[in-house]
Amino acid sequence: MKLWGGRFADGASDVFERFSGSLHFDRRLLDADIRGSQAFARALERVGILTAEERAAIVKAFDEIRTEAAAAGPAFFDGASAGASDGTSDEDIHTLVIRKLKERAGAVADKIHTGRSRNEQVSLDTRLWLREECRRVRDLLRAAMSALLDLAAKYPGAVIPGYTHTRRAQAVLWPHYLLAYFEMFARDWERFGDAYRRANVMPLGSGALAGSGFPFDRDAIARDLEFDAITRNSMDASGDRDFALDFLYAASVAMIHLSRLAEDWILYSGEEFGWMELGDGVTSGSSLMPQKKNPDSLELIRGKSGRVMGCLTALMVTMKGLPMTYNRDMQEDKEPLFDAATQVTGSLEMACAVIQSARLNPARPLAAAQQSWVIATDLAEALARAGTPFHQAHQLVGRLVLESVRTGRQPSDWTAAQLQQFAPEFTPDMALLLDARQGMRSREILGGTGPQAVAQALQQARARLAQMTL
Ligand code: ARG
Repeated sequence: MKLWGGRFADGASDVFERFSGSLHFDRRLLDADIRGSQAFARALERVGILTAEERAAIVKAFDEIRTEAAAAGPAFFDGASAGASDGTSDEDIHTLVIRKLKERAGAVADKIHTGRSRNEQVSLDTRLWLREECRRVRDLLRAAMSALLDLAAKYPGAVIPGYTHTRRAQAVLWPHYLLAYFEMFARDWERFGDAYRRANVMPLGSGALAGSGFPFDRDAIARDLEFDAITRNSMDASGDRDFALDFLYAASVAMIHLSRLAEDWILYSGEEFGWMELGDGVTSGSSLMPQKKNPDSLELIRGKSGRVMGCLTALMVTMKGLPMTYNRDMQEDKEPLFDAATQVTGSLEMACAVIQSARLNPARPLAAAQQSWVIATDLAEALARAGTPFHQAHQLVGRLVLESVRTGRQPSDWTAAQLQQFAPEFTPDMALLLDARQGMRSREILGGTGPQAVAQALQQARARLAQMTL
């Protein structure tokens, strides 16, 4: 079926129908399209286009279509795709839904599109759909944060070397490291909240671009569909996809965070680090090498992050040159949007399972910290606290490290007496700092890795997570 045609003497060519049809992907908007059309039927009743009986018949028919679709599954769309040979081809989901309505409700279905354009309808449907996706993603982010906190609680005192430039830098607590990802996911949760708010604006009443010719109470439609606000300019409503870009940006940043966690743990669970063991359920073997236990789940998360960023880029580039207002190019918003939503929810689900399966082998990262000079900063700061100007303290400890590297010594090879012999500025109590577990006790600053600061941050993170509801 077509929602247009009067102006055309000839039908569309097969190649154009195949090329332009979007039903094979925008079918994902079926529920949203039905919900929006039911609300629109109520709006049409309020402006006197539909009688109460007609509205009731239409709303009921839509309910039946929803039930039919749920029962039929993918077969619901059989024969309806653009270019289908049986002549029933529907250009898009909006066309399909109206055809189905006509099959069930008869002639009155011809009134459903009064004063409505697909330009605003597709915006409405996408917004309705995106709101649900934002909710789902936010729930999954909370699950991931919760799993991180559980993993932190399992090893409250575990020490790892923190890295900069992939070089051992300073010792930190394992929970402190995990809380860093908690913070990233907490911001992602906020970003998806912003994306939700941007999507949560109701466009119906905008018409194709100039505003509808019927006096719809737009606020009433917004209330009906639980929107917080209505769009303020019909041309903007017709030509805007910012709300989709906001979702894609939030998805891209979340995927960057997931990808970095994946990268860390691919390394940390490998033989060279040997810090972690990932569960059998989230790893796979090699068809050739019997010994392999590969972190494919994490590699796929890392891989899919590139794909999601591609989706953001694709839509940005699609939008950037479009003249006002709606252009058919904008139909290209859906596949990246759908794909990004699928990949980000899938990746979050996968990440939750990986985090839940992860086991730390605390001896390995502790040894990595002890067998390095991650304590150098602690020593220099202790000297500075005792009165040595920091620049000189830095030089002094630098010389100590150089001497140690030359003579193949580690921090634990030094005694208090030897330190004092090396430089009189070293007092005996400073020798305690040769143990990587000690230095962090001086970092009891808000946001730092001091054991008490971390214990408090963990507690606060739990409380914050419990507050992350809407
Ligand atoms: N399938 C179209 C889309 O996704 C719906 C809007 C079509 N509007 C039009 N004027 N051709 O953008």
